[in-house]
Amino acid sequence: MPALYLKTYGCQMNERDSEQVAADFLAAGYSLASSPEQADVVLINTCSVREKAELKALGKMGMIMASSGAQFHTVYGIMGCMSQSLGRELFRELPRLDVVIGTQRYHRVLPLCDSLLKERLSSPIVKPMRRGAQLCETDPAPRSQDLIRDHLPPHGSCSAFVSIMQGCDMHCSYCIVPSTRGEERSRPMKDILTEVRSLVEQNGVKEVTLLGQIVNRYGREEPLVEGRSAFVRLLEAVHEISGLERIRFTSPHPIGFREDLVRAYTYLPKLCSHIHFPMQSGSDRILRLMRRPYKQAKYLELCHAMRAARPDLAITTDIIVGFPGETEEDYLLTRNAVEEVQFDNAFIFQYSPRRGTPAAEMPNQICLREKEARNHDLLELVNRIATARNAALVGSTQLVLVEGPSKTNPDRLQGRSPQNKPIVITSGSPIVGSIVPVRIEESTGFTLYGTAI
Ligand code: SAH
Ligand code: SF4
Ligand code: F3S
Repeated sequence: MPALYLKTYGCQMNERDSEQVAADFLAAGYSLASSPEQADVVLINTCSVREKAELKALGKMGMIMASSGAQFHTVYGIMGCMSQSLGRELFRELPRLDVVIGTQRYHRVLPLCDSLLKERLSSPIVKPMRRGAQLCETDPAPRSQDLIRDHLPPHGSCSAFVSIMQGCDMHCSYCIVPSTRGEERSRPMKDILTEVRSLVEQNGVKEVTLLGQIVNRYGREEPLVEGRSAFVRLLEAVHEISGLERIRFTSPHPIGFREDLVRAYTYLPKLCSHIHFPMQSGSDRILRLMRRPYKQAKYLELCHAMRAARPDLAITTDIIVGFPGETEEDYLLTRNAVEEVQFDNAFIFQYSPRRGTPAAEMPNQICLREKEARNHDLLELVNRIATARNAALVGSTQLVLVEGPSKTNPDRLQGRSPQNKPIVITSGSPIVGSIVPVRIEESTGFTLYGTAI
């Protein structure tokens, strides 16, 4: 039985795409290898959003290829955003690379790799230092949103990602995603509902996360129905599916985030009390340079409105520090916004210039030392707020969807609350996949600990 090793970098969309590719290989009789040395096909799903992510993936593949355990017949492939963005250039970086596949051609990964593997296994010539086959497919597939197929939820898990749209038309000035993922396109609602139903009925899934780069722009070409957007109507339809307990979505954008979506928090109880709501900056001047078409006041107003609709809502965010031209004053505005919103957590990124994006050409690029200093300072503030918000939950009871063994202590179970906080169950052993009340007894910056009752 041939084996596949698949390593994934990047966002949830990549995780979902990897699940689909893995499902294809399993259906074709492959097993999943836990290390590249035991694999006949080695694939890396890549991210281009920051330079570091690209260097990590290239380094990983280089190391795998150089490792003595690698077999002569092994097929090496790179897929995902870096493939889409760099195409054949990747063969120059990695001469032994066989396959490069773009973000709209995941359905082609198995056929390309499998036929290459069969060819190599049937050929008696052993050429250990051979060059790769250098097959590259990155053309956009027309209506690729309709090619999204059912996939395995990760390792029989009770939670699954469901792609509802692809691509992005926002063109924020710093971001490479529109060029790696193509134009915005929404998947037909009936396909999404069929997939969610099947995940619930066949795989026992209790929680779905609806995915899109700007998920609330789903079906934006469709007219409003009784004041409700296509996205809100999709949430309502998913909410109807019996057996499904929790609905999440990521990432929403302040643009197109209207009153109907705020109101959804009042009448859709399955909608979890957590929103990941990227702010990027607290300075209107920087937001404008970023081509983020909202003002800080509008962002704050939305946070307040959502908390009014759902008082226990946890808000997390993405923030970029050191965007070109960001002054100390701009940075302090971001800092103030963090204090004002009181985020439950925030991912802070140092601005990374990306090829082909306008911000990379802007004057007044910020030096690394300054970016690091702002990153460090903001991280401290974010951690302080997150710790205080978690500490306030000690003594409360949270409903936990039990996901499996804790990563730090395999003897304990771990799950997440509706607020998406990781909760380690210190006593009591509920069934994996069930939702149980847990009395919170202890907290740290990012994790809560408690007893199942
Ligand atoms: N579509 C989502 C974001 C996807 S990328 C949205 O617009 O909300 C995830 C995060 O990476 C972004 O929110 C941003 O904070 C960060 N990011 C994107 N490009 C970046 C760059 N060039 N340098 C640093 N961080 C970046
Ligand atoms: Fe990138 Fe902006 Fe699109 Fe998000 S909305 S993926 S940050 S271009
Ligand atoms: Fe990265 Fe591509 Fe996602 S660039 S963040 S893997 S869409």
